[in-house]
Amino acid sequence: MADEPLILGIETSCDETGVGIVRGHTLLADALASSVDQHARFGGVVPEVASRAHLEAIVPTMQRALTEAGVTLADVDAIAVTAGPGLAGALLVGVAAAKGYAVAAEKPVYGVNHLAAHVAVDTLEHGPLPEPAVALLVSGGHSSLLLVDDLAHGVTPLGATIDDAAGEAFDKIARLLGLPFPGGPYIDREARAGDPAAIAFPRGLTAAKDLAAHRYDFSFSGLKTAVARWVEARQRAGEAVPVADVAASFQEAVCDVLVGKALDACRSNGVETLVIGGGVAANSRLRAMAELRAARYGIRVRVPRPGLCTDNGAMVAALGSHLVASGVAPSRLDLPADSAMPLTTVSV
Ligand code: KG4
Ligand code: ZN
Repeated sequence: MADEPLILGIETSCDETGVGIVRGHTLLADALASSVDQHARFGGVVPEVASRAHLEAIVPTMQRALTEAGVTLADVDAIAVTAGPGLAGALLVGVAAAKGYAVAAEKPVYGVNHLAAHVAVDTLEHGPLPEPAVALLVSGGHSSLLLVDDLAHGVTPLGATIDDAAGEAFDKIARLLGLPFPGGPYIDREARAGDPAAIAFPRGLTAAKDLAAHRYDFSFSGLKTAVARWVEARQRAGEAVPVADVAASFQEAVCDVLVGKALDACRSNGVETLVIGGGVAANSRLRAMAELRAARYGIRVRVPRPGLCTDNGAMVAALGSHLVASGVAPSRLDLPADSAMPLTTVSV
């Protein structure tokens, strides 16, 4: 609707420079510049390289977003920016840019939580989020289960990974199998030709003894080691590694744990909506398994399309829009970038 506020969102917490523009729940522009190719040969994101790339990309990406939406900065009602968590130097570029544009155009600025933005982005595709909801956020940097009772003011962490993030596990196993970085999409593709039941890999923190202290936590390091041992044993024996079967069995183990714990969180909290976000939410098996199992309990699964699951500016704009609509006050102009921003802080 034309009378809803026009919100611009800036994302620079990791390796994607994103600028998104929304009006209410309507996405008008989602401009993205990625430095992923510059990190590929290191097998992971190099913070200094990411910061430098953001610095070069931020102004052109901003201009592309404004052009795509057919608006000018003067038309924008508020600017939202990821203030954390993320890489300190990378966050600083976005926060400094947001402040600069806010001062120049006399606009309010909202420093927001990246993880809450991963939840909010779903509203662009599926409309307002029923609360309470459970959110499963799985990416290269985070793996968390959250109870979302009031997205504008705070979410309750239920659990998180105690070692690797889910996406990190995908990336490391891909590397082990000789697949490119980032490995998630390649494992996803390989797995389609493989048998998910070929190898029984471990499901981290699902044994009765672990559930008492870690009911909603994740651990992927044991799985990673198990896959590495299995592959090494084949190589030592001079046998070919069945890449598709390993990929499918690994992916099955990750998805089984993610979906199992997320649905347990829904059921024990009497929640009927599960939102999945973050780069790993693009995984085809995760999406299918979540929908299949959730249906048994009458739980509705909401997953944004893959392009909105990975880091982008639209998700920050979506959260900004929700904050404005909820009457939340803007941040102070000296808002800090906080690489360790807690989940209980939605905006600073
Ligand atoms: O949300 P995101 O773009 O950035 C972070 O905040 O980390 O997530 C990137 C992660 C990478 O680890 C990548 O391998 C993983 O998401 N990913 C996938 C898929 N697409 C991206 N993992 C599994 N299956 C996919 N289809
Ligand atoms: Zn992210």
